Amino acid sequence: MGRNIHFAEEVTSTQKIAQTLAAEGAQEGTIVVADKQTNGRGRMARTWYSPSGTGIWMSMIIRPNIPINNTPQLTLLTAVAIVQAIEEETTLKPDIKWPNDILVNGKKLVGILTELQAEADQVHSVIIGTGINVNQLEEHFPEELRSIATSIYIESGELCERSKLIQAILLKFEALYSLYLSKGFIPIKLLWESYAISLNKVIQARTINGVIEGKAIGIDNDGALLIETDETGIERIYSADIEIKQ
Ligand code: BTN
Repeated sequence: MGRNIHFAEEVTSTQKIAQTLAAEGAQEGTIVVADKQTNGRGRMARTWYSPSGTGIWMSMIIRPNIPINNTPQLTLLTAVAIVQAIEEETTLKPDIKWPNDILVNGKKLVGILTELQAEADQVHSVIIGTGINVNQLEEHFPEELRSIATSIYIESGELCERSKLIQAILLKFEALYSLYLSKGFIPIKLLWESYAISLNKVIQARTINGVIEGKAIGIDNDGALLIETDETGIERIYSADIEIKQ
């Protein structure tokens, strides 16, 4: 990973650039990193606040030979790689909230956006975008984000060198990705579960088809969240915002 790195001071979105590079045939492991994004994108068509000098805004191109349905597994794998790297480089012990939020003290530190280019049922490329709040002070965040977002600096009181953290993430990702390609998703799933805070709790999931409430009992082998509800039994959720109720 990262043998081919494209760095830019300012871009609209590293995700958009990585998509173009992937469509032009960029090799697996190509990374796009920017100091600032003017149109950073989040999940569910949200924007991602990406000012200069303080965060890691990065997109990675991978080309796994997997069916489309398995791509959520890669989001979970990436979340594990990032948590492991943050644990190695800082004093923090982050949690993962399904599917892809990395939290410290209940506030969001990292967001992951996975997008794919595919044909029929087969994946051509997966673009994994990662936004990490690294050295922001609380007052750097817009007012409306202050109660829900945080940074490594706010939580640990220590500045973190972004290039070192990127390097650690790429190494962790590479190790987990080769484990995934050789042994499948199960070992990744076990690691993911060890960091997950949303399991065995009553949660509310807001999906595009409505709200589902029930107990999160696990994830299945394609990365979907399994929710046990009183009304409909076990529901499988692929994309949602979840809130932990108890
Ligand atoms: C989320 O909504 O939680 C996902 C946020 C993903 C943000 C990252 S920053 C780098 C990459 N480029 C983007 O435009 N978005 C992702």
